[in-house]
Formats: sequence, C-alpha cells, structure tokens
Amino acid sequence: MSGIHFMKTDDLERVKDFYTNKIGMQEWVDQGECIILKHGNMLLGFCEADGSDTDGVITFFYRTKEQVDRMYETFKERAESEPIKRESYNIYNFFAEDIEGRTIEFQTFLHPLKPYLDSIELLEGRRSVREYENREVPEEVLEDIFETCRYAPTSKNSQSYYFIPIKDRDTIEFMADRRAPNSGPIAEAPMAVAVCCDPDNTGRVQQDGDIAAYHFTLTAWSHGLGTCWIAAMDREDVKDKLGIPQDHYVATVTPLGYPEEIPKTPERKEAKEFVRRID
Ligand SMILES: Cc1cc2nc3c(=O)[nH]c(=O)nc-3n(C[C@H](O)[C@H](O)[C@H](O)COP(=O)(O)O)c2cc1C
Repeated sequence: MSGIHFMKTDDLERVKDFYTNKIGMQEWVDQGECIILKHGNMLLGFCEADGSDTDGVITFFYRTKEQVDRMYETFKERAESEPIKRESYNIYNFFAEDIEGRTIEFQTFLHPLKPYLDSIELLEGRRSVREYENREVPEEVLEDIFETCRYAPTSKNSQSYYFIPIKDRDTIEFMADRRAPNSGPIAEAPMAVAVCCDPDNTGRVQQDGDIAAYHFTLTAWSHGLGTCWIAAMDREDVKDKLGIPQDHYVATVTPLGYPEEIPKTPERKEAKEFVRRID
C-alpha cells in the first residue's frame, strides 16, 4: 500500500525548484498541472491552483544527526532555531519554512525504527560502513533481522546457512586482527555477525552462504544498521575461535551497528558498461 499527500500551490515551478534543488526530492511523476515528488518513502504532490495550502508540517527524516546538521547548514536562514534533541519524542530536529510559508521539519529518530525504505532505495542506498556509533543493537531488532533472513534463497531450499552473533569484545578484536587492516572495521562496531554454511545440508555451500550474507546486509540496512563485508574470513583460526567445524564455510564476519555517518557512494559504472547484449 502506498499514498500521496497533495497540496495546492500558486507557483508550481518555484515549489518544484525548492523541493528538488534545495531539499533533494526527486521528481516522481509529472502530470503537467500537478507534480509528484519523492523523498524516501514520502510522496508529495503539488498542484497548480489559486492560492497555496500552508497548513500542517512536512517532515523529512534522516538516518543520522549529521545529515540533519547538514540540512541545517543549507536552511539556516529559514530555520526557527538550531537542531535540538527533543526528549519527549526522542528525536533530533529543527523547523524551517518553505518558499510559500509551509512549515518543514528535518529530523532524525534517536531510537531504532521498523523498516520503511522502498526496495530501490534500499538496493541503491546500502553502503559498506566502517565507522559506527557507540550504541548497542537491541535484541528485538536482531530478532527481526534474523526473522527476515529465513527468506534468503538457497540451493534446493536447503536453508543450510546459519549466523553467529558476536558480542564478546575479545572475540571481536580477534576477528578484526585476522586480516588487518581489511578486517579492521569489525572492531569499530558494537558487535559482529559471522555468516556460515553447513556442507552437510547443501551441495552449494558457497552460494548459499554468500547469498544469506547479502540478504543479511540488506535486511540490516533496512533497519538502519550498517554492515561491511569482510572477505577471506573462511579461515582455520576464525573457525576455531567461533567453534565452527573446519569443513563449514564462513561467507563473512561483518561488523554490525548504527552508522556513525552514511558513507558517500563510491563511483559506479554506467549500466551499459556491464550489460553485454549478444543479439
Ligand atoms: C566480496 C567482497 C569482499 C569485501 N571485502 C572487504 C574487506 O575485506 N574489507 C572492507 O573494508 N570492505 C570489504 N568489502 C566492501 C567493498 O569495499 C565495498 O562493497 C565496495 O567498496 C563498494 O562500496 P559499497 O558497499 O559502499 O557500495 C568487500 C565487499 C565484497 C562484496
């Protein structure tokens, strides 16, 4: 189920310019007299009319305080005050005004959220995170993530993968040391998760394990949590430390936690560069 909130404007072009160029909303549908803009899971429609709707509050929310601070730098002149923490809602926010006098709010929630991202935003927005907040991952969030991991595809539906959550600090440091500096991000998070696969249950131990690990990273991201694939952790010492039989496969040992900030997207190829058509 989805929805759109429509508002009247007497200057569609000016409103469109403000919300796309200043706030970073994307044009979703252009109907001529109305335009529908998108920001994450929010769809806002503006329609040309005599007069403008200015009631209510349009709230843009972000994953980190730093992102709210960055918006404040852009909207300083239009802001009511600096961003502050509001204990009663457990949010960090500030209010400002758009170019027609509507109240706009920029905030981040300071508590865990249920998933809200749409699938494309999840797939394009996930980043490898190497710096984390000093904040525990709540047990109920971990349980929600593992619940979604039940649906990872596996060869012949073998469901041969398993996860080992690691919270013991010494074990985390041990993992971070194995392939330092490449494995270093493990020590930056409050916990790590080993994603493993049991060859007794599948003939495709590597594929099943790797897919489960990627399923895990996407699910974690949709809960606001960062991960970072750490390669080549399928090692004797790692398995010994975690009590994993030597013939099992370790897809990765990933750090898991709330990102300190969202890393910039590393440059990507154009799709035409990796689609090799044969007819
Ligand atoms: C198979 C694989 C191995 C990786 N190994 C490491 C690693 O050992 N250490 C690390 O910090 N990042 C590692 N990464 C993360 C990549 O550097 C990252 O995915 C890439 O730079 C693209 O950035 P993005 O994930 O933010 O889109 C690995 C990723 C993959 C898929």
